[in-house]
Amino acid sequence: MKAVLIQGDGIGREIAESVKEVSAELETGIVWDEYQAGAQYYEASGKLLQDGLLEAIAKDGIALKGPTATPIGKGFRSINVLLRQHFATYANLRPVKTMTGVPSRYENVDLVIVRENTEDLYKGIEYMYDQDTAHGIKLISRAASERIARFSFDYAKKNGRHKVTAVHKANIMKMTDGLFLESFQKVAKEYPEIASDSVIIDALCMKLVTDPAQFDVLCAPNLYGDIISDLCAGLVGGLGFAPSANIGDKVRIYEAVHGSAPDIAGRDLANPTALLMSFEMMLKDLGMKEKADRLQDALMEVIAQGKETTADIGGHASTSAFTQAVKERL
Ligand code: NAI
Repeated sequence: MKAVLIQGDGIGREIAESVKEVSAELETGIVWDEYQAGAQYYEASGKLLQDGLLEAIAKDGIALKGPTATPIGKGFRSINVLLRQHFATYANLRPVKTMTGVPSRYENVDLVIVRENTEDLYKGIEYMYDQDTAHGIKLISRAASERIARFSFDYAKKNGRHKVTAVHKANIMKMTDGLFLESFQKVAKEYPEIASDSVIIDALCMKLVTDPAQFDVLCAPNLYGDIISDLCAGLVGGLGFAPSANIGDKVRIYEAVHGSAPDIAGRDLANPTALLMSFEMMLKDLGMKEKADRLQDALMEVIAQGKETTADIGGHASTSAFTQAVKERL
């Protein structure tokens, strides 16, 4: 079986190497179709994406992606946003769970963020109204809002989850977030067996940091989903433990929530767990549940023992030593 692998920028090469080694150890049979993309590739070649990358993703239907850097306030558009919009990977699934051995504020967090991935302010429709005024358009459609709500309820049903909560600010953005909420409430009626409610984004942030265990599945428009993903990663030990999947009808792209971590890149210091957990999600979706479970157990064992963990959670192991420890447990 073939899958596209994009190493990306910064720590991408180191954590992608870790996944390749673990995949070989697990004998997944996956043949990696490797392509380059990102800021480093842009500097070297003048192109953001290597020729053939989009075609390869379309053909294989599955990709694992390292982080890619995006310039702030100027320069090219985010490759992530580009890929999500190009392949209409409309749902960004981000599970958040506490792990034994990872220092965190709470012990009982187990929630899933479903982030709408294609519209909202991330549509990138911005222009200068005049020299001193910038305009950005928050685009929310009924079709995309109903689609993400349906995805959230279907996910809850399939995965034994009990409640889906819509995230919004419809008290202020009455049309855009109002439409998102209205679409959610319409779809919720089709799933009487799953509880549903809604929460205003600012109140949600307070509730998440004081009592995260009250949430099960959170269904959010793009921007709020992006922000609460990092907040929730912080609840369970940081960005090193936050995996994700971008899911469309024809293409799935798996990636860690974190970025390219330029401050530690190239020093064999990065924690590869989030990308390995994203790979674990990919294996499950490919029908390799037994291998995914073995990987999960190995990760949990190494982390719980705490002898070969990386610096982000107070350990002293390098990326490669951590990877070696996981392979030994496999
Ligand atoms: P970041 O997530 O790269 O780093 C934030 C902090 O977390 C840094 O101190 C970093 O060292 C640490 N960190 C992140 N991942 C880690 C890991 N696996 N192990 C240990 N420590 C880790 O966020 P930042 O600095 O805001 O962004 C850097 C670049 O990444 C930017 O160009 C941004 O656009 C890009 N980015 C890309 C994403 C993607 O491709 N999916 C997602 C988020 C940011």
